[in-house]
Amino acid sequence: MNYNQILKDGENFLKTSNIKNPNLDTELILSKVINKKREDILLNSNNKLNNTDLIKFKKYILRRHYKEPIAYILGYKHFWKYKFLTNKSVLIPRPDTELIVEETLKHLPINKSKKILDVGTGSGCIAVSLIKERPKCAATAIDISRKAINVAKTNAKLHQVENKINFINIDIDKFKSYNYDLIISNPPYINSVELNRLDDEIKFHEPMLALSGGSDGLRDLKKVITRSKKLLKINGRLILEIGHKQKNQCSKILNENGYYINQISKDLSGKDRCIVSTKL
Ligand SMILES: C[S@@+](CC[C@H](N)C(=O)[O-])C[C@H]1O[C@@H](n2cnc3c(N)ncnc32)[C@H](O)[C@@H]1O
Repeated sequence: MNYNQILKDGENFLKTSNIKNPNLDTELILSKVINKKREDILLNSNNKLNNTDLIKFKKYILRRHYKEPIAYILGYKHFWKYKFLTNKSVLIPRPDTELIVEETLKHLPINKSKKILDVGTGSGCIAVSLIKERPKCAATAIDISRKAINVAKTNAKLHQVENKINFINIDIDKFKSYNYDLIISNPPYINSVELNRLDDEIKFHEPMLALSGGSDGLRDLKKVITRSKKLLKINGRLILEIGHKQKNQCSKILNENGYYINQISKDLSGKDRCIVSTKL
């Protein structure tokens, strides 16, 4: 079979399971199998696939058919300016989370060396992107999941910042290191009702530990806010990603814990997504 026929078959198969971008996903899978760019496939559509590669292709297409996210099948996802390794131990980095990087950079002067803590680092996408932009800063990145920490360490190595980020497998509740200038976190914040309504791709494939914020979605946000009070310097910043309906509750919890709210920013679809606050 040539690439053209293979792409058609793959696409038609993915259409039967209502995959959103069957055409694109099939091309990406074929490009992974033959280790070539998508453009090369389209330019050489009459090339034939050998048997070993055909078996690999069918295996990946089947995984996609069963709604496994394309980022897990390909093994990477682009975030900010970089490519991050992803597997089922980590949340797939989301474009909306780039907002937290953008907002944080405004509070990190380019030539200053600030001490940063990333709570719930997952793939390490936030900490690595920040340190790439602000090489004079030093970061600690923690996660309750050992497997996530391993992925984050691999990503830090991949982007040559492994000496600038201290990765620790620990629960935020037990973390005792102080005097941070800035704490960032994209904690799990989905409540149990919304969790049930998530697409199968997310619900059945991404780690629950990275998604579920308890019955009201605020369990981990509260933890990060209260713990950060102890870990931050006075006038230190706490920058959080939140669920789009959590602005009011979150602001209230921040105020009750002695933070001043500097700014609330909206994501790409105009939803409240990021709160910048200061420990008074
Ligand atoms: C929503 S994911 C965010 C991952 C990554 N920072 C990102 O933005 O793509 C939340 C992460 O917090 C971690 N986590 C959950 N509870 C935690 C806790 N109590 N202490 C530390 N990390 C926790 C999860 O394992 C998960 O990796």
